[in-house]
Amino acid sequence: MLLIEIDKRAYNSILNFSRIIYKNAVLNKEDLPDKEQIIKLYYKNKFVAKAIYDSGAPTIKILTLKDEEINKDFFYNRIKKAKEYREYILNYKDTYRMIYAEADCLPSIILDKYNNIASMQVSSKVMEKYIPIIFECLNELTDINTLYVQSAKKGSKIKSKIYGDKNNIETIINEGNAKIKVNLKGHKTGFFLDQRENRIDLENYVKKGDKVLDICCYTGGFSVHCGIKGAEVVGVDMSDKALEVAEENMELNNIKNYNFIVGNAFDVMRKMIDKNEKFDIVILDPPAFTKSSKDVKNALKAYSTMNYLGLKLAKRMFITCSCSHHIDREMFKNMVVSSSLRAKKEIRQIGGYRTQSPDHIITMANKNLEYLKCLFFGVED
Ligand SMILES: C[S@@+](CC[C@H](N)C(=O)[O-])C[C@H]1O[C@@H](n2cnc3c(N)ncnc32)[C@H](O)[C@@H]1O
Repeated sequence: MLLIEIDKRAYNSILNFSRIIYKNAVLNKEDLPDKEQIIKLYYKNKFVAKAIYDSGAPTIKILTLKDEEINKDFFYNRIKKAKEYREYILNYKDTYRMIYAEADCLPSIILDKYNNIASMQVSSKVMEKYIPIIFECLNELTDINTLYVQSAKKGSKIKSKIYGDKNNIETIINEGNAKIKVNLKGHKTGFFLDQRENRIDLENYVKKGDKVLDICCYTGGFSVHCGIKGAEVVGVDMSDKALEVAEENMELNNIKNYNFIVGNAFDVMRKMIDKNEKFDIVILDPPAFTKSSKDVKNALKAYSTMNYLGLKLAKRMFITCSCSHHIDREMFKNMVVSSSLRAKKEIRQIGGYRTQSPDHIITMANKNLEYLKCLFFGVED
């Protein structure tokens, strides 16, 4: 195993719980390998950590601060800890994000558990080798009997594989008062568990007979929670497959008053404004408009246009989200404020800054783990 010497700053940041350091912290750069592999980090000739090194990435990801074997015991203990935190501290039962990369000291791995099936995304060649071991650990520690794995390094082709019962890739989860069908082959890990608490909280503001517009509704997460409270829901998404499931989800919850529109959200909203349509509640939950810091300017333009259109259509409440971690809280709020001025709507923030569900753990030393921003506003029409 390669011995890599790091500088004082990186050493201190590791001691201060940072699980990622930058490659430029390496002093003996000439010894860095070409291939992705596990390396040992040293400071002043003393062992600091084992980490994943990937020549194509700007960062080095810390695996452990102990000089221990990376074997089944290592994964078993990490997964057990991750599960216990969700179940005993956060009180989740059957469905939750069980592994959230650096937050659970399992870099490059994301795993969502939905009842007894799970979906995992692996973004490191090193971690890929351990997938069968991880599945064994899941079998021993949980009721998971099917694991759908998508593996790919950033920018390369995604390979997928199912471990366990290949026919068991769908389930119905409970989310507050709602039932939601999840298929492991859906977008990302199948369902956006990160919005769970925000969707449940929105129910508190929905009134019977409200007209709700759910933009980028995917399989109808927000729509179902609004429908349960007696709202008439219009959902918009560009994925017809997602909308088929959205319809099933409405039926599953005995909701009859809905209409899903396949289309580009921007075009659909413009047409609605032309027809002078209005909605009591408008929800915007678009995809990350940028995946890199270089594109922030264009992304902000897209968010700004979407928020302006959404605010034009909103009568009483406006829910707006961004899942791009390159757009920080301040940028996001400033964008919403300027969109509201353009739309000539006074908005009042309801509650504080909402973010991802707590099973998507945000550790204070690892800023990259926080990505979701969600704001609820009252609107003066
Ligand atoms: C973050 S997900 C929404 C999650 C959803 N609100 C939920 O609670 O499950 C984003 C969705 O936006 C959709 N989408 C992306 N670009 C779009 C566009 N221009 N118009 C309409 N839908 C779009 C994707 O198909 C995806 O379903």
